[in-house]
Amino acid sequence: MSSSVSAPNSTTRSATGARNAVVLGLQWGDEGKGKVIDLLAAQTQVVVRCQGGANAGHTVVVNGKKSVLHLLPSGILHDGARCIIGNGVVVDPLALCAELDELIAGGYDPSSRLMVSDRAHLVLPCHKALDAAFENKKGDAKVGTTLRGIGPCYADKVARTGLRCSELRDLPMFEKKLRALLIQVNEYLVHLGAAALDLDAAAKQIMPACTRIAKFVADTASFLHEAAAANQCFLFEGAQGVLLDIDYGTYPFVTSSNTGVGGIIAGSGLSHKQLGDIIGVVKAYSTRVGSGPFPVELANSKGDDIRKRGGEFGATTGRPRRCGWLDLVAVRFSCRLNGVDAIALTKLDILDTEASIPVCVAYELDGKRIDTIPARIDDLAKVKPIYETLPGWQRPISAIRTYADLPPAAKSYIAYIEKHIGVPVRWIGTGPGREEIVIR
Ligand code: GDP
Ligand code: IMO
Ligand code: MG
Repeated sequence: MSSSVSAPNSTTRSATGARNAVVLGLQWGDEGKGKVIDLLAAQTQVVVRCQGGANAGHTVVVNGKKSVLHLLPSGILHDGARCIIGNGVVVDPLALCAELDELIAGGYDPSSRLMVSDRAHLVLPCHKALDAAFENKKGDAKVGTTLRGIGPCYADKVARTGLRCSELRDLPMFEKKLRALLIQVNEYLVHLGAAALDLDAAAKQIMPACTRIAKFVADTASFLHEAAAANQCFLFEGAQGVLLDIDYGTYPFVTSSNTGVGGIIAGSGLSHKQLGDIIGVVKAYSTRVGSGPFPVELANSKGDDIRKRGGEFGATTGRPRRCGWLDLVAVRFSCRLNGVDAIALTKLDILDTEASIPVCVAYELDGKRIDTIPARIDDLAKVKPIYETLPGWQRPISAIRTYADLPPAAKSYIAYIEKHIGVPVRWIGTGPGREEIVIR
C-alpha cells in the first residue's frame, strides 16, 4: 500500500538530527497528526501509540484513498513499520477487530506487524455503557465524549479494578474476571438510572474479539528496549491534543489521559532519552469537538464557512467540529509544556480564500491581558480573545511543494506564528494527501 507515492527523503525526517520523534497535537485534537505520522513513518521501523484509545480518529490519505485509524498506529500503511499499541492505550477488542477487518477487506493485512502491550487496559462493553450513563446524567454539563468508554476504562485502571490485556493469556479465567467486573459495574449503571447489562450477552459479544486479539498481546516494553538496543528508529504517535490533556487541558472538558510527552513516556515503557524530536502538529486555525470553553470559537457564518471548506466533521463520531481562528495562546502553552522542537502546520490551504486572517495573541480576563490558559474553567469561559489581523494570500496553494513558491502573505503568516511561539515551522500542509506537503 505504501509504495506508489514516494515519501520525503531521510533529510526531511528529523527536526534536530535525532533518530526518533514524537508527534503531538498541540490544540484540541484533529490537527492532522495521522497525515504527519504517515509521512514520517516512511523512515521509521517502529511506530508506537501510547495513550488514548478508539476515541482517536487519525486520517491518512494515500493515492486519494482515505483511511481512518482509531487504535492502529497511523504508520500501519507502511509495509516496513512495526506497529505497537503501548501499555498506556485503552484497547477496545471490538474496535480493534473492526479496524483490522476493514483493512483486510481492502486487501491489506497488517496483522504480522502488530503488537499489543500486555499491560494495556481493556475497554469492555460495560465501560461504553458507563460512558453513556455518565454523560446522560450530566445533562447540559456533559463533556461531549466520543462514547468509546475511555473515561470509565481509565477510571477502572486508576481504581485498580480494570482488566489488562495480559489476562487474555488465560481466556477462561479472563471470562470469570470479566463477569465479576460486569456485576460490579451493573450496580453503578442502575444507580445512574441506566439499564444493567446482561452478563451472558456482554460476554458473548466481547469474547470472540478478545480471543482474536490475544495473539497480538506481548511484552511490548521489552520488545521496544531490544529494538532500541538494535538502533531501530521510533516514531511515537500522540492522540488527542494538549488542550484535552487530563492535567493541563480545559478540565473537566478533557479526555482521561496525558496527551503530551508525559503520556508518551508512561504509555510506551521507553525512557525520555529515547524520545528524540518533539514535533507539534498545529492546524492553521482552531477546531474543537464536544463541550467546553473555546475562546476563539466563531459561532457564526464564518465558522460555518471554515467547517465546510475544512471538512471539519469528526473522523470518529462524524460530529461537526466547532471552528475558530488560530489561538496562539493555546499553541504557545502546549509548546512550553512539551518542549516542542518543530511544528507541522497543517491545513494552511483552507485559509486560501481569506482576505485577512485574525490570530489570537492574548486573552482579556476581567479587564486584564493574560497570555496563558487559566486553570479555572469559569475563567476560561469568560476570556475574550485579543486578535492581530494578518493579510491573506487569496491564491490556491495546494499544488505548491517548495517553501520559496508559497505566496509572501502565507510566509508572513508562518513567520508570525514562529515568532510568537518561538518554535520553527518545518512542515506545511497544503492538502490532505501524503504528498501535499512543503518541507523546509
Ligand atoms: P488527527 O486526529 O490529528 O489525525 O486529524 P484528523 O484526521 O481527525 O483530521 C484532520 C483532517 O484534515 C483529515 O481529514 C485529514 O485528511 C485532513 N488534513 C490533514 N492535513 C491537511 C492539510 O494540510 N490540508 C487539508 N486540506 N487537509 C488536511
Ligand atoms: P484525535 O486523536 C478531537 C474529545 C471528545 C470530548 C473529550 C472527551 O483524533 O485528535 P473522550 O471520548 O476521550 O472521553 O472525550 O475529548 N476527544 C477528541 N477530540 N480529537 C480526538 O482525537 C479526540 N479524542 C477525544 O470530543 O470532547
Ligand atoms: Mg482525529
